[in-house]
Amino acid sequence: MATKGIVLAGGHNTRLHPATIGVCKQLLPVYDKPMVYYPLTTLMLGGVRDVLVISTPRDVPRLQELLGDGSQWGLAIAYAAQDAPRGLADAFILGRRYVGADPVALILGDNVFFGSELSRKAQQAVADVDEQGGATVFTYPVKDPQQFGVLALDAAGRPAHIAEKPTKPRSNLAVTGLYLYDNDVLEIAATLRPSPRGELEITDVNRTYLREGRLRAVQFGRGMAWLDTGTAEALLEASLFVQTIERRQGLKIACPEEVAWRMGWINDEALARLAAGLAGRPYGDYLNALLTTGEAAGGG
Ligand code: TTP
Repeated sequence: MATKGIVLAGGHNTRLHPATIGVCKQLLPVYDKPMVYYPLTTLMLGGVRDVLVISTPRDVPRLQELLGDGSQWGLAIAYAAQDAPRGLADAFILGRRYVGADPVALILGDNVFFGSELSRKAQQAVADVDEQGGATVFTYPVKDPQQFGVLALDAAGRPAHIAEKPTKPRSNLAVTGLYLYDNDVLEIAATLRPSPRGELEITDVNRTYLREGRLRAVQFGRGMAWLDTGTAEALLEASLFVQTIERRQGLKIACPEEVAWRMGWINDEALARLAAGLAGRPYGDYLNALLTTGEAAGGG
């Protein structure tokens, strides 16, 4: 079984109006590259190579122009249009045929993950769901849990309770926008009813797995960054964060060409071709430098 990936890149986008009246936020830059590169490379770091990108009917062609069929990065990217923002769990209704009989990793198109725990924990979770079934969510400690889906653990560290934007949160652990499910998620999503706000809620999917004792939680610690980009402030902060790290290290965050190359999905010649296509621009210079400095530039 190969875990399929879904990037959910449509939505309302209202919090960023007017910046997102003409284009979806996932095509706006986070510092030096389009926002959608960040969730896409997170899936890649987890080892996922088959990806369905879901967006609005208007933005699917634009995302297609940017990402193509993914083959340039050793991926197979397919697309689906969501004609109205019916909620996160709609991904499994729109993606049902695409997912087929496989497990699936869902990532929200406006979530930025960064940190040394990311690859290992994502790959482990992909393997766990593949081998044992069930679902895995990733939590992150936050100062304002009221804004998020919140997970409380029992004394043994197992998921005990999950609530969407609770007024009295039982923990400070937000459920992040990266989720792994076995194939049962397709059936679970198919039977969901819209919530009072009219959306098919991912929290209801997670609650089903929790009730069945099949939900795992992996904790991203304080050494990780999990950034939202859905408001003007958050988008600016995420851009500044990426700029700070990239300028300090000389290494890019969420560069699909580099991730594909380090994962061994494209070879030196393919990377050189991608660099040549961006020659004379800083991004192309970066790709070229990878070929000459290689692992010494920062390791894999
Ligand atoms: P949200 O943060 O729920 O909100 P939003 O981006 O749709 O809009 P707003 O600014 O008005 O709050 O969305 C999380 C991610 O999921 C984001 O990348 C958009 C995407 N999404 C869809 O693709 N389809 C949907 O039906 C919803 C609700 C979100």
